[in-house]
Amino acid sequence: MPSDTISVRRASSGLHGDITVPGDKSISHRVAILGALAQGSMEVRNYLCSEDCLNTLRAMQQLGAVVTPGDEPSHFTLTGTGMKPRAPQHDIDCGNSGTGMRLMAGVLAALPFRSCLYGDESLCSRPMRRIMDPLMLMGARLEACGKKPGCAPLKVEGSSLNPIDYTLPMASAQVKSAVLLAGMLTRGRTTVHQPAVTRDHTERLFTHFGIPCTVSADGLDVAVEGPVSIQAKDITIPSDISSAAFWLVAASVVPGSRITLRRVGLNPTRDAIITVLRRMGADISVSNRVEAGEPYGDITVRSPKALQGTVIEKAEIPNLIDEIPVLAVAGAFARGETEIRNAAELRVKESDRIATTAGNLRAMGGQVQEFDDGMVITGGVPLHGATLDSFGDHRIAMSFLVAGLHADGETTLQHCQNINTSYPGFEKHLRTLIS
Ligand code: S3P
Repeated sequence: MPSDTISVRRASSGLHGDITVPGDKSISHRVAILGALAQGSMEVRNYLCSEDCLNTLRAMQQLGAVVTPGDEPSHFTLTGTGMKPRAPQHDIDCGNSGTGMRLMAGVLAALPFRSCLYGDESLCSRPMRRIMDPLMLMGARLEACGKKPGCAPLKVEGSSLNPIDYTLPMASAQVKSAVLLAGMLTRGRTTVHQPAVTRDHTERLFTHFGIPCTVSADGLDVAVEGPVSIQAKDITIPSDISSAAFWLVAASVVPGSRITLRRVGLNPTRDAIITVLRRMGADISVSNRVEAGEPYGDITVRSPKALQGTVIEKAEIPNLIDEIPVLAVAGAFARGETEIRNAAELRVKESDRIATTAGNLRAMGGQVQEFDDGMVITGGVPLHGATLDSFGDHRIAMSFLVAGLHADGETTLQHCQNINTSYPGFEKHLRTLIS
């Protein structure tokens, strides 16, 4: 468990090391869900043993999937229910995870029993209408019973659904996946049209598990023909590029650094952090690239002479949505302005990431102009240490610990336990890299 309060100082000797960040969060959730429905057993390697993904795995065990431990916690055998999951005995705890709740709602809506999904305070204040609307158009019976309208807990009265042709009102892989997962359990063709390409892990896993799925040449339209059968198949999950992003930025801003990150997922719908950092002048090279169902490779990052501000393009936003807080930190250390617009989705993440990122940067002396849909950071103003809150948001905690590695004095992040929702071992990696 990470300490509740973590302090860092300027890493004046640079950051050095060769590390393997934990498995990809998005892929881990999906592997647990699809593996739990599959026929047969499969070896799962490098599953993300963070609170978020363990909650999804526990939920799948409640539905009858069997987990047999392997030689380490991230390796196990998952035996599926062969499309015959049983009703859960208890309400399903999704913890802090929007992905877990939204994806599981898609599956549970199409299964013949009742269930209830709940989560922590942050999750119970995040919008669920975005998945309820399309699922209810398919005939799903869902009720949001939270204190806030349209929020969890979600009561699900599972039933047989109708296929749908649905245009997403926002670029969201979670909504796309909730509809596709419901669609794969529903007779007929379910199609989702996206306004922009979002992470395509569900589609790639459909292919891995032999589920017929068609994707248009531009990647915007995805269809699945249900009901499907799923064959269990061994899988190794690559390391999470969203976790690697903290070190890509850290080594790019702290002079004298060199870090190698092993077997990082390089899915083209997730790798814009590399494109944008390179555009800012970062020295990032990729080696040992493997073109598997999910491509991956080793990334080496060395500190560049300087970073330059940049404009993040609208089309890049869904591809680096989770990396924006740490990119804003990079922007604060870069020359000139870094512009992040068209990113209103940040307001409904684990925290309002526009407000929490801008607020913490200002508390360190940074210059930030906030907009409804983003922020503009004027970089090059030296940052000073401060005592900051993570606002219940793992990525805010880690982003500002990175900022503290190149700020004057001491930076203290309070309420860091939540780092465990996505990156168990972050503090250990931090200490290794600065030692
Ligand atoms: C995710 C999709 C993104 C991302 C989240 C994980 C996924 O959310 O921010 O961390 O695994 O599908 P949205 O779909 O809400 O953009």
